[in-house]
Amino acid sequence: MTDRKGLILAGGTGSRLWPITQGISKQLMPVYDKPMIYYPLSVLMLAGIRDIGIITTPADQAQFRHLLGDGSQWGLRLTWLVQPSPDGLAQAYLVAEDYLAGAPSAMVLGDNIFFGHGLPEMLACADARTAGGTVFGYRVADPERYGVVGMDADGTVTQIVEKPAVPPSSYAVTGLYFLDGTAPARARSIAPSTRGELEITTLLETYLDDGSLTVERMGRGYAWLDTGTHGSLLDAGNFVRTLQSRQGMQTGCPEEIAYLQGWIDEDALGALAHRYAKTDYGTYLSGLQGTRGT
Ligand code: TTP
Repeated sequence: MTDRKGLILAGGTGSRLWPITQGISKQLMPVYDKPMIYYPLSVLMLAGIRDIGIITTPADQAQFRHLLGDGSQWGLRLTWLVQPSPDGLAQAYLVAEDYLAGAPSAMVLGDNIFFGHGLPEMLACADARTAGGTVFGYRVADPERYGVVGMDADGTVTQIVEKPAVPPSSYAVTGLYFLDGTAPARARSIAPSTRGELEITTLLETYLDDGSLTVERMGRGYAWLDTGTHGSLLDAGNFVRTLQSRQGMQTGCPEEIAYLQGWIDEDALGALAHRYAKTDYGTYLSGLQGTRGT
């Protein structure tokens, strides 16, 4: 475990989910039985990160705070940050510059869902690399919609291209970025793209140019879902429902991760379970009591 801080980028316009997201932030929408932001938050928690900055739009922050508070109920320390307008993913590092104060970071997009055996180990490897950056490549059927990595025959990354008409590979860069403490300074040095955004791809290119970018491939045993359209949001909800009802286990449950990491004790877990007593979620939390270390 390093001194890496977490970031969740949960602003944006959500225009592909209009009219729903005209009244509520996309990242507060349900993905089956939990608010969307629980899933990316859980990824940071699985990486052992407890100090997390959450970036929202100015208008939506109050609702996020109402949901998550200061994070102490899960043994976290949440810091609330605002992105005044959605000017690109790399802008997050400018918004968070003072909060990060030179620390390395793990940033996850608030609408990305990750699931797969071995995820905590993969995250630990990325965390251990304190210099440079690590991103995760995932094979998709429609790479032209994403930032795509080009690789040579040995698998060494040669380029990252944003939404290429002719993709150099089928590997999209997922919305999870482990970057060292130089990310804010690098973000300051890059120019906006023709669409006027500070692109994460441009920021990652600076690491690639230095030879300090690692791309880990997430194999087919992983699920990486994004929830940006009506169809993909419903698909993600159905995926979570199918998995949870088959296994009888939760995915993206912050209470469970906090408990298993030893960040909250039995009594705190009991109180959280009691709060949700009318739901299957609460029943699940009750069932966890006394299981740590078994
Ligand atoms: P996108 O899905 O690219 O953008 P969006 O959420 O605004 O949706 P739409 O395209 O439908 O208008 O964003 C990916 C994630 O990053 C999402 O969780 C929102 C977040 N985001 C910000 O917080 N700030 C930004 O400037 C951008 C571009 C995205």
